[in-house]
Amino acid sequence: MPNKIVLFLTAIIIAPWANSEPLGLPPLPVPADNPQTPEKIALGAKLFNDRRFSTTGEIACAHCHAPDKAFTDLKKVSEGINALTGTRNAPTVINAAYYKSQFWDGREPSLERQSMQPLLNPVEMALPNHDPVLQIARTDPDYQKAFQAVFGKSGDGITMNEVSKAIAAFERTLISGDSPFDRYHFGGEKNAMTPAQVRGFSLFLNEGRCVSCHTIEQDHALFTDHRFHNIGIGINQIQDQVPGLALSFLQAKARGVDVDKAVLSDKKTSELGRFAVTSLLDELGSFKTPTLRNVAVTPPYMHDGSLQTLREVMVHYNNGGVNQKGERVNAHLSGGIRPLNLTDAQIDDLVAFMEALTSPQFAQVAAVAPSPTAPVEKKP
Ligand code: HEC
Ligand code: HEC
Repeated sequence: MPNKIVLFLTAIIIAPWANSEPLGLPPLPVPADNPQTPEKIALGAKLFNDRRFSTTGEIACAHCHAPDKAFTDLKKVSEGINALTGTRNAPTVINAAYYKSQFWDGREPSLERQSMQPLLNPVEMALPNHDPVLQIARTDPDYQKAFQAVFGKSGDGITMNEVSKAIAAFERTLISGDSPFDRYHFGGEKNAMTPAQVRGFSLFLNEGRCVSCHTIEQDHALFTDHRFHNIGIGINQIQDQVPGLALSFLQAKARGVDVDKAVLSDKKTSELGRFAVTSLLDELGSFKTPTLRNVAVTPPYMHDGSLQTLREVMVHYNNGGVNQKGERVNAHLSGGIRPLNLTDAQIDDLVAFMEALTSPQFAQVAAVAPSPTAPVEKKP
């Protein structure tokens, strides 16, 4: 998509949030050393959309976090330069500002740190180092003006510190609440959710046990506990290889392997999950609980994009997370899930509830997103 259109879409999406906190969200966490300013946000938007920050000149952050696709790419796993595929599904950047850690395995602690990685990852933007970014930021006349105005810096004074701060400031504007659920639960609008959604909400809190990880607080809901759990995606299929994989990854780490590159370039290493970051055995196969906000417009699902519809997600939970042979193999690991024995009608209600978590700005994404309930076409 041409950059101009991306910027335009970004502008109309940001505009309604400029002044008020959306219903259902907590106060925005902003680091003391990176306050939000309109100029910094505009600079961050330009950086986020700049395709020159890749070896092929084609891949911007927005390539995989596209404004017209609810800031994801709607692909099973992302495609970077030369259509190289990674191992993981691109999470939406909407509301990432609230996460206590970034990435499915939480390997970066902040938005500021996160943006350093995709620029260098060989299957994403694939730069050899950050120099090409700085070269452009220091010489492009628009950037020169903007970095001077925002940070009072020019030439060598512009470093990745300023670049990543501006990108993070832009990402902190990509927040969204005000969903039918928010209006119902926090706004007291009893008709904001349909009867099926209201039944699904009750299942979410009770029989489904969803809320124990996808948390709802007194006055806001991020639908995540910010923790890591193994719910039997991916790792269940390679259970017998896990000890060997874990051992060889520990050895690779001792040799100084780059975790970001390793997990995004090798599918089996990716399945080690949080273990790859912490080396803790009980975090094998554990991934961060993702928010469920806008989940209906951000298929496919899970860290590996292996489940295509919300119904498939529900079947996975209902069965207690079985592998292809129908065995429950993750039960001894932390956070494992147990079968729910919900009826078909109850599953429908839970799917309906998740559809009530779409913010109005992203309702139009349903038009481009494959239907969250019907099966989508499989890629060959
Ligand atoms: C080639 C596609 C691609 C590009 C380009 C890309 N990303 Fe991502 N992004 C991903 C994938 C895939 C993940 C998940 C990786 C993981 O968790 O290991 C991700 C994760 C993230 C996250 C973490 C969100 C969360 O829920 O934890 C943020 C924030 C983010 N990207 C922002 C950016 C920014 C900023 C840029 C540009 C500097 C960028 N991305 C470039 C695909 C991409
Ligand atoms: C033990 C904690 C836990 C419980 C209980 C739980 N989840 Fe999850 N959920 C997770 C984790 C962790 C993931 C990501 C797993 C992965 O990718 O490997 C996830 C992923 C999801 C996703 C995919 C989101 C995305 O963007 O890809 C949906 C949808 C979801 N859960 C809905 C539910 C529902 C509905 C329930 C109740 C029936 C539920 N969850 C119960 C922890 C939990």
